[in-house]
Amino acid sequence: MTRRSWILSGVSAALLPRQMMAAAATLPKLPYAFDALEPHIDARTMEIHYAKHHQAYVDNLNKALAGYPQVAAHPVEHLVGDLNMVPEPIRMAVRNNGGGHMNHSLFWQILGKPKGGPKGKLAAAITKSFGSQAAFEEKLKAAGLGQFGSGWVWVTAKDASTIQIETSPNQDSPWMKGITPVLGIDVWEHAYYLKYQNRRADYLTAVLQVINWDFVTARHEKLV
Ligand SMILES: [Fe+2]
Repeated sequence: MTRRSWILSGVSAALLPRQMMAAAATLPKLPYAFDALEPHIDARTMEIHYAKHHQAYVDNLNKALAGYPQVAAHPVEHLVGDLNMVPEPIRMAVRNNGGGHMNHSLFWQILGKPKGGPKGKLAAAITKSFGSQAAFEEKLKAAGLGQFGSGWVWVTAKDASTIQIETSPNQDSPWMKGITPVLGIDVWEHAYYLKYQNRRADYLTAVLQVINWDFVTARHEKLV
């Protein structure tokens, strides 16, 4: 039985082996203090973004899945990666809240006190694809500014030596197209409004000061 037919068959949760029952989604631990990214990202924004917004995505995902134990048995990345297998009544809730949970879980990891720029294959891919780190960052900023309304700007690996920039609305992501992103930057107003108000360009400049390129370099290495 395929994963999809298994889910759609409505197998009773009572028949599932205990180890196949997924625990409810939980908020991952933030890998640094709320004030660690000051002055670029202020502590109050970090606290509200993590403890309120991300928590709400987790809570609402669990609420949506509560009546669907056979769906909840799957890791969220399976559900977000194949939304057609999620029953229609909860598909939009899983898309928005499962997407929000995955996107933010990655976002916290790609931020941190920088210890230098990209290295290895990622540095080479940036040079090949954009000419220079500065040109790459300008394109990232322009893409983030160009995303109308709430959304994300992403970097994905086109192949082992080429990267590309793309954007998505709301909590959509490359995962929904079966592609694991190298990095993602939140451009929802909740990510910057307290400090930067409407100045998304200033936020994008600031957030690029606190990218943990060691983490992103290692992630890219694993993906390609
Ligand atoms: Fe966010």
